[in-house]
Amino acid sequence: MRSAKDFFRPLAVGAPQPLTEIPFRPSRMIHFFDPGNEKMAAKVPDLAPRVDVLLGNLEDAVRADRKEASRAGLVAVAKATDFGDTQLWTRVNSLDSPWGLDDLLTLVTEIGDKLDVIMVPKVEGAEDIHYVDRLLAQLEAKAGLTRPILVHAILETARGVANVEEIAGASPRMQGMSLGPADLAASRRMKTTRVGGGHPGYLVRTDPVGDDLTAGRHTYQQDLWHYTIARMVDACAAHGILPYYGPFGDIRDVVACEDQFRNAFLLGCVGAWSLHPAQIEIARRVFSPSPADVSWARKVIAAMGDGTGAVMIDGKMQDDATVKQCRVVAELADALAA
Ligand code: GLV
Ligand code: MG
Repeated sequence: MRSAKDFFRPLAVGAPQPLTEIPFRPSRMIHFFDPGNEKMAAKVPDLAPRVDVLLGNLEDAVRADRKEASRAGLVAVAKATDFGDTQLWTRVNSLDSPWGLDDLLTLVTEIGDKLDVIMVPKVEGAEDIHYVDRLLAQLEAKAGLTRPILVHAILETARGVANVEEIAGASPRMQGMSLGPADLAASRRMKTTRVGGGHPGYLVRTDPVGDDLTAGRHTYQQDLWHYTIARMVDACAAHGILPYYGPFGDIRDVVACEDQFRNAFLLGCVGAWSLHPAQIEIARRVFSPSPADVSWARKVIAAMGDGTGAVMIDGKMQDDATVKQCRVVAELADALAA
């Protein structure tokens, strides 16, 4: 039930929660590797300093007969590697699979002190997060861990999207949420076989000029993921957790990957998955505010003094709302530079 304090927060209304009040750490690229693949696992010490997050993937893309090997590989890599400031995450198998429980048991017991975040796939509702939350509490206590392991949900089923708000608020362990466009497309019976990105059939067409329906018309490809990203961003902002775009599967198409990442950044996401080293620098570039945007933001903040009233800068009106927008940009730049 809402209490009186919810109605008397005039200084906070509309302002995003400061990054210092939420579990923010740079996580522009969540770089996936298969810990059961010896060649990939051997590259981890070299990769770690190049990325914000390294994620040992145990779920989809790991064959059913390699699940145990991947889990064991992650334990070995985590024990042997000093990750420095780079976070170590894992994506465990889904809660309805034969491996999800063993993943949690083994990883928290063996390498719980090294794991920052557990990504849980195919989350359908708050009950999935409650289940993981209770298990983690028991396993952490048993292992004598003092730092709680955080939880990240993948939004990739139609039911999950319908329940996105309750998922975002399901536990204080919630760190964030990623869009999973491949599973979500299947769950919704969408007719795309791509992993993220647009589709040449998903278009709007400009109106005809005169009676000729063929002359001078243009089409614009639309973003299939706009609605879901926007819903996810709202749910995350309302609960003080972080939204992410997930995978972009066409590794060769670095241009479209950058476009998809940038759409997500502009809509409020703080990072995306990188599935290949080629996507690491794209994510770093896109999810770091540009120097021009940061200097504009600082100029507006300086000109707005206590943040109230209105000023004109270069012919553009600035007021209490635009200074909040500028603080988001400047705060993110500061947090990434820290
Ligand atoms: C990611 O897991 C996806 O399904 O897109
Ligand atoms: Mg998936």
